Amino acid sequence: MARIVRVSAERAPPRERRNAMRIGIIGAGKIGTALAKQFTRVGYDVAVSNSRGPETLAGLVEELGDRARAMTAEEAAEYGEVVVISIPYGRYREVPAAPLRDKVVIDTCNYYPERDGHDPELDNDDTTSSEKIRAHTGANLVKAFNAIYWENLRDRNRPKGAPDRLAIPLSGSDEDARAVVAALIRDIGFDPVEAGNLGQGGRKHQPGTEVYGAEIPAERMSEIFRAS
Ligand SMILES: NC(=O)c1ccc[n+]([C@@H]2O[C@H](COP(=O)([O-])OP(=O)(O)OC[C@H]3O[C@@H](n4cnc5c(N)ncnc54)[C@H](OP(=O)(O)O)[C@@H]3O)[C@@H](O)[C@H]2O)c1
Repeated sequence: MARIVRVSAERAPPRERRNAMRIGIIGAGKIGTALAKQFTRVGYDVAVSNSRGPETLAGLVEELGDRARAMTAEEAAEYGEVVVISIPYGRYREVPAAPLRDKVVIDTCNYYPERDGHDPELDNDDTTSSEKIRAHTGANLVKAFNAIYWENLRDRNRPKGAPDRLAIPLSGSDEDARAVVAALIRDIGFDPVEAGNLGQGGRKHQPGTEVYGAEIPAERMSEIFRAS
């Protein structure tokens, strides 16, 4: 059975330091935009990027306010102390790898063969989409925000302790990177629940799992992971 760890607040850097942190976002679609809104709302500095170029993101940046700027994907990857990859999985080889090496990188991507094209390794479950993105980038990858519907991520933040605060599952093979991402999840008004390492843990919150898209609190999500 996988080890389930709830990250203690003490392990994460202090809030003031984290809030000075820069976050680069590669992919400014539904999830990338929802994250940019949440991160800027709580005081992080964010760079958004897409495949068409920063000039196409002027409206979004204006909406996001002073803490946001638009860049190329390469520049956003360099800008971020933490970087989010939120693009259709099938395009992951286009992500600039060099600036992401060893960085804490959040992977929100899901594999949908009808959208992304078939990947035999994933169809056979020889590996996972996140492990392939880790291999491409060399990043310290954490899978998170992949299992929450974008409108919930945009709108359903709640204060700590609220009975309807939603759980967000995460997985990754490095404890410190998981702690950084868990702290970000808490800061924007959700409860992180650890599923394990990137491989076996990540499989617990892929499309088709019980927690995928589920609007449930942390205790219930932890129970599901313990039973799986
Ligand atoms: N929608 C959801 O509720 C949801 C929930 C959880 C996870 N996810 C997963 O998260 C990922 C993003 O989903 P989404 O719904 O936000 O997608 P989306 O709305 O279709 O947006 C995709 C974004 O990725 C950008 N993009 C594509 N290729 C790129 C590249 N090579 N470099 C930089 N940016 C690139 C697109 O930019 P251009 O328009 O300029 O090409 C667009 O901004 C997907 O893997 C999805 O399966 C989605």
